[in-house]
Amino acid sequence: MLTPVILSGGAGTRLWPVSREAHPKPFMMLPEGRSLLQKTLLRVAGIPGVQRVLTLTNREYFFKTKDEYTAVKAAADLAFDYVLEPCGRNTAPAIAMAALRLLEADGPEATLLVLPADHLIEDQAGFERAVQQAAHLARDGYLVTFGIQPNYPETGFGYIETGETLAADAGNGGETVACASGLAPCLVKCFVEKPDFMTATEYVACGRFLWNSGMFCFKAETFLDALREHAPEVHERALRCWEATACDSAPVELDGTHFANMPDISIDYAVMEKAARVAVVPGDFGWSDIGSWSAVSELTPPDEMGNRVAGEAVLVDSTNCYVQSDGRLVAAVGVDNLIVVDTPDALLIANRDRAQDVKKVVQELKLLD
Ligand code: GDD
Ligand code: MG
Repeated sequence: MLTPVILSGGAGTRLWPVSREAHPKPFMMLPEGRSLLQKTLLRVAGIPGVQRVLTLTNREYFFKTKDEYTAVKAAADLAFDYVLEPCGRNTAPAIAMAALRLLEADGPEATLLVLPADHLIEDQAGFERAVQQAAHLARDGYLVTFGIQPNYPETGFGYIETGETLAADAGNGGETVACASGLAPCLVKCFVEKPDFMTATEYVACGRFLWNSGMFCFKAETFLDALREHAPEVHERALRCWEATACDSAPVELDGTHFANMPDISIDYAVMEKAARVAVVPGDFGWSDIGSWSAVSELTPPDEMGNRVAGEAVLVDSTNCYVQSDGRLVAAVGVDNLIVVDTPDALLIANRDRAQDVKKVVQELKLLD
């Protein structure tokens, strides 16, 4: 049984000052009036056959998450299950706990469709076709990733080198499923998480690499086996934490002491860079990662000077800026290539080319604490 697993525990520090510990990125409102988390749930609700959603998040966000979900009428028929973390330990521990939860509920056929809550997808039908294909490959024991055609050397993503093409009916018991993007699913030759700029530039130029979208599909057992092989410490501590957790309660609250002892590591470094039987389904479904202010700015159309404004702003002789304001008027004169995000208690001014480094502000603030 395929169960979407929504990951929404990350702090989203590159979107400071709007994304904070008390109000992290998945709850961020988009200009259209829905949050990233609600958009993720809507996407899940559209997948045929899905009856239940498992959400992994911090226990502090439980009620807020429930409220967000309740407001999505299209998901009213879904059953909601939660595994709550006492602290953030990144995606490998979170997904390990999700796998253990679903293995217990559904047995060996338990299959996870891991979906981060910080993406947008424009083409729902294309996404559903890709999910269908990934689910078939997952059934055949692959760790499946969804690859996106790269168009610039982003250093905040993982890169997937495509290998041998899998037969058109691979993982599909002989039935033909239309390819999600016209590109056939492939074996993954190599997976590199967040390469440096030079390496990313080479990858984009050579044409064999796709971006890792951060969504995954695999059987719970396949993932746990790979975790045991490539990140044995995470695997062992996950088992211990699960044993110490009262799993018959709803929501499941992970044992605080055991979970805090888990290594802080992402699935990309812990498993995907090392695992052997990895497949990629190329997806051409209008994917975008709302990972930085540069990405958020793309949601607002530019004026003739390349400026984008969300809120109230006056820009004089300025070009290529993004200004977001919340209640106050922002004015700028003679500036170029800036990101300006104004909130009631903090103001961000950044060079557009340094959008990835906004997380360093949060690191500095933590040092001051
Ligand atoms: N429950 C839970 N607990 N969720 C978490 C935690 C945690 O401790 N840490 C992160 N998440 C959630 C985030 O909220 C997000 O929805 C998702 O997991 C991915 O984490 P990010 O921190 O946003 O990862 P990333 O963007 O740096 O990198 C990943 O996504 C890229 C594409 O967006 C990687 O998979 C890259 O390879 C990929 O290219
Ligand atoms: Mg992200």
